[in-house]
Amino acid sequence: MFNLILFGPPGSGKGTQSDKLVAKYGLVHLSTGNLLREEIATKTPLGLQAMGFMDKGQLVPDEVVIGMVDSHFDKHKEAKGFLFDGFPRTVAQAKALDKLLELKKTEIGKVLILDVDEEELLKRLILRGKTSGRSDDADENILRSRQDVYKKETLPVASWYARTKKVIHVDGMGGVDEIFERLCSHIDKKIKL
Ligand code: AP5
Repeated sequence: MFNLILFGPPGSGKGTQSDKLVAKYGLVHLSTGNLLREEIATKTPLGLQAMGFMDKGQLVPDEVVIGMVDSHFDKHKEAKGFLFDGFPRTVAQAKALDKLLELKKTEIGKVLILDVDEEELLKRLILRGKTSGRSDDADENILRSRQDVYKKETLPVASWYARTKKVIHVDGMGGVDEIFERLCSHIDKKIKL
C-alpha cells in the first residue's frame, strides 16, 4: 500500500493535482473538503454541524473530521493506497491518522507540500470564487482568514511529519502539467524503492 499526503495552503492546487495523481497511480482520493461538502449537500447532521465552520473559513472540529475519515477508510478495504488531500490539518488529526494506518499495518509513504506565493493563492481563489459557488470562496476576508488558519493550525502538521523525513517541498507555481511532473518525479522515486 502506498499512502500519500498532498499538503499545502488553500488554493495551492491540492484538488487539481489530486485528480491527476489518482488517475495515474490508482490511489483512492480522500479529500475531507469534498466529503464535508457532500455531507452539506445532502443535509446530514454532520454536514449541518460542519457548515457553520466552513462558511467562516474555520476548521471543522477534529472529532467530526476524524470520524468521517475513519468510516470512509472502511469503505475502501481493497485500496492499493490513499491520497489524502486537505487531511490531516491539525497535529491531533495527524496522530489519529498514524493510529488508523498502524491498525491497517501501513503508513504514510510521502508528504508532498505544494509551495505557492500568497499573492498567487489569493489570485486563484478570487478567480474561482466568481464561479465556484463555494461560500468560503465568496468573500476576500474569508479567503484571507483561511490562509491565516492554515499558518496557525495546519503548518505545525508539516513539522510533525518533518521528523519522519518523508516531507518534500514541491514548487507549486507555474502550469498545472509542469507541477504534476514535479510531483510524479518524487512519487516515482519512492515507488521504485
Ligand atoms: P478544502 O476543500 O480542503 O479546501 P482548501 O484546503 O481550502 O483548498 P482549496 O480547495 O481551496 O484549494 P486546493 O489547494 O485544493 O486547490 P485547487 O486545486 O482547488 O477545505 C475547505 C474547508 O473544509 C476548510 O476551510 C475547513 O473548513 C473544512 N475542512 C476540510 N478538511 C478539513 C480538515 N481536515 N479538518 C478540519 N476542517 C476541514 O485550486 C484552487 C484554484 O486554483 C482552482 O480554481 C484551480 O483551477 C486553480 N489552479 C490550480 N492549480 C493552478 C495552477 N497551477 N495555475 C493556476 N491556477 C491553478
